[in-house]
Amino acid sequence: MRKNERKVWTVNSMQEIQEWFTSYTRSFQNGDNPLEPLLELKLRHSFRVAGEACSLAREMGMDAESVDVAETLGLLHDVGRFPQYREFRTFYDAASVDHGELGWETVKRSGILEPLEEAAKLAILDGIRFHNKKEVPSGVRTSSLAMVKLVRDADKLDVFELVQDYLDRGAIRELLPRIPVTWEVSGELLDTLGETGRASYSQVRSVPDFLLVQLSWVFDLNFQPSFRRILERRVIERIENRLPRIPQVKRLAGKARDFARAYAEAGEGTLDGE
Ligand SMILES: [Fe+2]
Repeated sequence: MRKNERKVWTVNSMQEIQEWFTSYTRSFQNGDNPLEPLLELKLRHSFRVAGEACSLAREMGMDAESVDVAETLGLLHDVGRFPQYREFRTFYDAASVDHGELGWETVKRSGILEPLEEAAKLAILDGIRFHNKKEVPSGVRTSSLAMVKLVRDADKLDVFELVQDYLDRGAIRELLPRIPVTWEVSGELLDTLGETGRASYSQVRSVPDFLLVQLSWVFDLNFQPSFRRILERRVIERIENRLPRIPQVKRLAGKARDFARAYAEAGEGTLDGE
């Protein structure tokens, strides 16, 4: 398909999908009351990730249909958060349910993607299912891979901003209620990050620990425009400024910065997400 040529079905289906998303999320309101604050947060996050996914897809030169698929996937990626929160009162997957799987199940059952072409439908479903896995599973079908990677990037880009916003407003406890109120960095976490560049939430014992894990997300981004945004928005520096000025932190931030620069500058097809 030529660039910028939109298919009629895409436009119609997208509108229907958006309407479904609005009414589905609205069903979590209690009567006329507004959504609970943490669900309202997820709702806004979903719209922002849709916008980010759309803008990344455009910058990557995807055709119009793929841009629509990216936007739709961004909107739907966190659908599972709604039933998860209603049932378990937490967003912590390890203590409740895998919200990627739950969202995948929910959207599949709704039938809302049925009018889409098979590959687009599967890419959206796979994107929802795999957006929150620690790594992109090796068995993801090839036709879905770019969308899975793209929504993972768009999601992380928004969560960077969201966490900084909560920190700026002194409201981080609202966002991370399970994390103990301490500002110490865990040595064990720093060691793991230093050795492998990765860490898991199970090692997080404080807000700075959480920020360190976020810093390590930079190594998991996939596409050139995502790295450009990291640099433009000074994501690494803003995180670093909130962490203790110790050599291990400096080293990790420096490594993340070098990594982001290399990928942001690399030409198309050289370092792009493989
Ligand atoms: Fe999510």
